[in-house]
Amino acid sequence: MILGISASARKSGITSEAVKAVLQASGMEYEYVSLTGKRINGCIGCTGCAADNVCKLQDDWNEIGGKMLKAEAIVFGAPNYYGMINALGHACLERTFSFRHRDVLSLKGKAGVVVSVEYSTETQNAVQTYITKMMHSNMMKIIGSAAAQGYSQCYTCGYGASCGVGNVVKNHGFLEEIKSHHCPPRFDAQKEALDQAYRVGKLLGAELRSKK
Ligand SMILES: Cc1cc2nc3c(=O)[nH]c(=O)nc-3n(C[C@H](O)[C@H](O)[C@H](O)COP(=O)(O)O)c2cc1C
Repeated sequence: MILGISASARKSGITSEAVKAVLQASGMEYEYVSLTGKRINGCIGCTGCAADNVCKLQDDWNEIGGKMLKAEAIVFGAPNYYGMINALGHACLERTFSFRHRDVLSLKGKAGVVVSVEYSTETQNAVQTYITKMMHSNMMKIIGSAAAQGYSQCYTCGYGASCGVGNVVKNHGFLEEIKSHHCPPRFDAQKEALDQAYRVGKLLGAELRSKK
């Protein structure tokens, strides 16, 4: 079973679409989990997990950690917030510290796929780099990655046309009204991202089938 995690704070944004595209392309059984609305604290460094690889902090992460342990593969997707992975995604991966003690690596050998969503070309790869680093530190086998263009909230917040600090005015100047041709592409209009998600999903499916 493949576990797909979208770490976006938005339930139906680009990250969720991209993660689902990878899962569907795999042709394998999967479970999709969104971190939207979940309360996930960062690691507090208590080392309560050192003796048994079980995190002692209690919040919404513990159930997700349990799903990670059961899965054969993990597709992890997150968006870029302020030049780095968003806080929910960071906290979720940070807590896998609990899986790495006494030469025991609880996620070792599981297949991984990295999904990153960035709006700006200035901050490219920060999310992909972090997820990759965390999968490597858990000694997972990274099958590949898919990157999609983010959809800036400024296009839908209701004030974007005249907001001097937002992305709409930054990209198009002050507008009377935001029209569809001003807006970034939705995931299903991003051919390269769709192709990447499809390709890496198929590779993941092939990897898992070869192990059966
Ligand atoms: C608080 C916040 C900060 C953001 N900062 C950046 C940024 O620095 N660079 C960037 O490329 N996109 C940034 N974005 C845009 C998101 O990456 C984009 O909206 C993405 O589509 C969000 O993922 P989602 O569609 O799955 O919700 C930011 C969004 C938010 C809410």
